[in-house]
Amino acid sequence: MSKQPLRVAITGAAGQIGYSLVFPVAAGQIFGPDQPVILQLLELPVAQQALEGVKMELQDAAYPLVHDIIATDSADTAFGDADLVLLVGSKPRGPGMERADLLRDNGKIFIGQGRAIDANAKVGVKVLVVGNPCNTNSLIARAQARRTHPANYTAMTRLDQNRAKAQLAAKAGARVADVTRMGIWGNHSPTMYPDFTHALIGGRNATDVITDHAWLDGPFIKTVQQRGKAIIDARGKSSAASAAWAAIDHARDWHRPTPAGEWVSMAIQSTGDYGVPEGLTFSYPCTVDADGQYHVVQGIELDAASQARIKASADELVEERDLVKEMLG
Ligand code: NAD
Ligand code: LMR
Repeated sequence: MSKQPLRVAITGAAGQIGYSLVFPVAAGQIFGPDQPVILQLLELPVAQQALEGVKMELQDAAYPLVHDIIATDSADTAFGDADLVLLVGSKPRGPGMERADLLRDNGKIFIGQGRAIDANAKVGVKVLVVGNPCNTNSLIARAQARRTHPANYTAMTRLDQNRAKAQLAAKAGARVADVTRMGIWGNHSPTMYPDFTHALIGGRNATDVITDHAWLDGPFIKTVQQRGKAIIDARGKSSAASAAWAAIDHARDWHRPTPAGEWVSMAIQSTGDYGVPEGLTFSYPCTVDADGQYHVVQGIELDAASQARIKASADELVEERDLVKEMLG
């Protein structure tokens, strides 16, 4: 007997990331080749015509797994009975801006959408915030969770993990698939900490494979922290296809057991692990169990430099939380 379809809500579905995201979701890249989906696409009223075009293309692609496509400007409709919500819709930054500069404009979107998710989605809905600044936007949406589970509101640092793996692989002359345990800690911002000290390349410590430790400690970290800006400088627009693919990675890996020995970086509700203040949305190295529940990797020994970097990112997130405290009611 064929499976019941799962409902996937995607906001900003006619935007840059949305356009790169809806097709792999429809093709089964999150839930696999035998799981039907219903796509519930949300856009602003002004973007409804563009959204209709996206819907037409989805229809024309004739994906066998797609049971229905709902295109709407109503958050209540888009989040109705949703199993998975991908919150992309929001403003991207332009040249010369930091992601945190978006907080005032984008933050308020996540109050209303958080309420609509809590009122309409399945109780066990899983939520991924992509729209920047994603950690604090996720905190704002989570603050509305009464019926749904607060721990199921996450934000995306998977793009940072993927970027870090690509940098290490290139430096080592290895394949990306050889790089494992690439933990991203903290905020999706220039304070994020890509922890090379626990990364493995071909099963060996990255610090043994890459002997240029000055590169690891300097240019590597900076490149990952500033990659979003570098893309904007090069393209004139923020990353889109790589961000969409990272969202697929995050959502897929949240629904299946993490392969033995591997970690997935997810920004999740802090419960105080590694001294991070409770309640922040903070990126940790995690594993996911067979029930689709994530767990922070425990027992990681952090040197003084790592601890200082993690604290700096936590401090920044505390400042962001203070800036939006009126949005957390
Ligand atoms: P975009 O401007 O191309 O598309 C955004 C879309 O969202 C637009 O179509 C817009 O109409 C829609 N939208 C705006 N407000 C909405 C609302 N309230 N409800 C529904 N839809 C709404 O932008 P983009 O390039 O797709 O980027 C989207 C967001 O993702 C930005 O905030 C960007 O900074 C962020 N981003 C995050 C990461 C990450 O790693 N976390 C990576 C890349 C981009
Ligand atoms: C990215 O990391 O590419 C995105 O967060 C977009 C940005 O503003 O940097």
